[in-house]
Order: sequence, then structure tokens, then C-alpha cells
Amino acid sequence: MSSDGYFDETIASTYDEYSAGSFAPDVVQPAVDFIAALAGSGRALELGIGTGRIALPLAERGVAVHGIELSNAMVERLRAKPGGDDIEVTIGDFATATVDGSFSVAYLVVNTIMNLTTQEAQVACFRNVVRHLEPGGCFVVEVSVPDLQRLPPGETARPFTISESRLGFDEYDVANQGLISHHFRLVDDQWENFSIPFRYVWPSELDLMAQMAGMTLRERWSDWNREPFTSNSRKLIAVWEKPAG
Ligand SMILES: C[S@@+](CC[C@H](N)C(=O)[O-])C[C@H]1O[C@@H](n2cnc3c(N)ncnc32)[C@H](O)[C@@H]1O
Repeated sequence: MSSDGYFDETIASTYDEYSAGSFAPDVVQPAVDFIAALAGSGRALELGIGTGRIALPLAERGVAVHGIELSNAMVERLRAKPGGDDIEVTIGDFATATVDGSFSVAYLVVNTIMNLTTQEAQVACFRNVVRHLEPGGCFVVEVSVPDLQRLPPGETARPFTISESRLGFDEYDVANQGLISHHFRLVDDQWENFSIPFRYVWPSELDLMAQMAGMTLRERWSDWNREPFTSNSRKLIAVWEKPAG
């Protein structure tokens, strides 16, 4: 692994194109609305800011955004976009990095909490966030609900993409809450592949991490439009609050 983590030059150079669906306005806008409402007149901290998919439109709305990011290659792509130079970014690990000042909201979207591959690091992330929040500030996490109900007993793999030019499957290590996402894509008639390790995490476990960091659950939904979170939800959007006192 390079010093840029798994989002090195090769991944960064095609990130926006490969994830084009998640850059669609109907995906981005509700997330930006949701986070902007929590930011109010305060500052927002994005953990794993990447190429600025959420940070740039949030900044356009007048919210002061600061990012933490491990990958210089991803930040270079952010910098190359209009407004990208105006966003402050701290290069480092969001479980431990320190940023000056305090924030009314911190957010961690698209499963990026799972990029921390140990429970210890995920707990450290919650503790790091609470240190950066002002009293009454909120932490927002968007993460998939682990797909284990769809994994037959004894099996370890679940496909998440199947098309003529793309294949993807998640390989589960249930004993260790490990997950490796294997991606294969056809580029110029050649198959390329990359794999990224994750630690999947349960909604109740996230609540406990928040509690250990001194925060309480404020709301949870199954999408940015505030659809209820139910037993059938595939995704969780949770908001925890630091006490106001
Ligand atoms: C899936 S991308 C999401 C980027 C962006 N938030 C978005 O919504 O498009 C995950 C990003 O988090 C960064 N990242 C992963 N683990 C990190 C860590 N421990 N500290 C800082 N950045 C990290 C990766 O380099 C990558 O840019």
C-alpha cells in the first residue's frame, strides 16, 4: 500500500468517472442539504474528503468546509476543480489527525468509516470527532448495513456489480468483521482489478462507539431524504450529538 492508502494515483485518476453514479445531482443534493442544515452558520469537517464530491457543493452553499484526507492523489483532484483551492485540507488519518478550531458538524460518508479496518481505529475516530465538535455539534455517518442476511451459511462472497465491463464482489471474513471489496473493470479490452479491505460495522455498534465518545443518538434514517430506518434498510444515516452543556 502506498502512503496515499488504497486511494493512490491509479484509483484517484479514475475515482470520479468510476463512481459517476454517486456524483449525480439527485444523490449529492439531498446529502448536501442534510449536512448544510446541521452546519447552520458553523464550520463543517469532512473525514475522507476525497475529490470533493460533497465538500465542493457544500462550500458553494456558503458552509466553511475543512477536510481530512490520507491521499494526496485524491486531494490533487479536488484542487483541480473550481473552488477546490479554497477548501482547507489536513493530510492525515481521520482517526487521529488534529485540525484547529471547532466544528458544528463532522461527517463521514459512503462507507468510509469502514476504511478503518479495526474496531480500535473506529472507536478512535469517534473520539477524535468529538474533540473537534463544538458543544451541541453533530457527527453524521453514512454506511451500508452489513449484507450478512444475504450471505448463505458457509459462503463468503456476495456480488455487488455484474455487467459486461464491471464485476465486483465482497468477500466476508465473518469471524473478524472483515470485508474485502474486489473490483474488476474492463479498460481498453483489458481487465484491471483492485481490492480494498474494510471492517463492516453494525448500527448498534456505532451507537456504542458514539456513547463511548460521549455522544448520543439524535436521529437515524435509511437515506438523505429522511426515509425511516427499518429492518429492511440497506443503508444507515446516523447523527450523534455532543452534549450542549
Ligand atoms: C470512498 S472515498 C470517499 C470520498 C468522498 N468523501 C466522497 O464522498 O466522494 C474515501 C476517501 O477516504 C479517504 N480515507 C480512507 N481512510 C482514511 C483515513 N483513515 N484517514 C483519512 N482519509 C481516509 C480515502 O483516501 C478516500 O479519499
